[in-house]
Amino acid sequence: MLNRLLQAFNRGGGNAPGAATIRDTANLEILLPWALAKAGEEIRFPVAYLEFLRTCLERKRFPITTVKKNRSGHDQDSARRFASLLGALSTLPAIEFAVAARLARVADTFHSNPGNFQSNSWFGDIRAHFEMTSSFGHKGRILTTIIRFMRCSRCLELGTAYGMSALFILEALAAQGLDTQLTTVEGSETLYEIASRLLDSRFQGRVSCEYGWTSHVLPRLAGNLIPVDFMFHDAGHSRQDYVGDFQAALPLLAPGAVVLIDDINWNDPRFASTNPQCREGWLAVASHARVMWAVEIGQEMGLVLLN
Ligand SMILES: C[S@@+](CC[C@H](N)C(=O)[O-])C[C@H]1O[C@@H](n2cnc3c(N)ncnc32)[C@H](O)[C@@H]1O
Repeated sequence: MLNRLLQAFNRGGGNAPGAATIRDTANLEILLPWALAKAGEEIRFPVAYLEFLRTCLERKRFPITTVKKNRSGHDQDSARRFASLLGALSTLPAIEFAVAARLARVADTFHSNPGNFQSNSWFGDIRAHFEMTSSFGHKGRILTTIIRFMRCSRCLELGTAYGMSALFILEALAAQGLDTQLTTVEGSETLYEIASRLLDSRFQGRVSCEYGWTSHVLPRLAGNLIPVDFMFHDAGHSRQDYVGDFQAALPLLAPGAVVLIDDINWNDPRFASTNPQCREGWLAVASHARVMWAVEIGQEMGLVLLN
């Protein structure tokens, strides 16, 4: 594999279009076996471990599509930062290797967890549920890049699940070296217990795990939480959830805050018997008067900048 890549690279004289991609891929093929050897034999699912690392480090591009852009307010610092953020997101910076390796180990422990997990619509084990619901490198890089470029220090996440996206957020916040805080909300008691143990053990004092459905928790937080500069919505996936949670969170979102909404085109018949109308919900959020700028990142995510 490596030889083939290097031959292709040499044929292109090192400067041909695509040469940087070939070089990055060749570099990764050197790095990954070393990373696996370094991780040692306690990694129980080496293929999944490597795949996690790959998604954190490989070259990746996302098309960015503008859905709305107001003329006013574009001289503000937050809008300038947002413009730079969009440039960075389209080529998605890699995650620092030490962080990627730490989180890949966490994922390995969930991959090998045979515990029972069931919800209203799904029955299986933690391993399968973790793989289905959790964030890996690509989403982690989007979260990390938003926090880096917008210089976020206070974040709110709706939908903790096993805590993987929260770990990406907390690692990125810690790298800023500021006084930072993440509040994360989960409605499943089983998942809340698993995730709060994990997150508190690693980021005690910088994370607050809230148990309950967003419709109950957000109004309570509205009177108590210092407004946040970043919200990640990854809780209920439907028009109603996107619009209802956004409305309820508005008092918690500081001027210049950004909101990332996951799965804007989601419609999985295993979990929803009727079309949840996620796209309609996302477009309704984007049309809100406080939204200055709204873009789609690839097919899956919507990002807005608020005034
Ligand atoms: C896709 S998972 C979150 C994954 C996680 N953010 C990550 O990327 O690793 C969605 C989670 O939201 C929770 N959830 C769904 N609707 C909710 C609501 N209305 N309030 C709070 N939690 C909710 C589910 O229990 C589930 O754990």
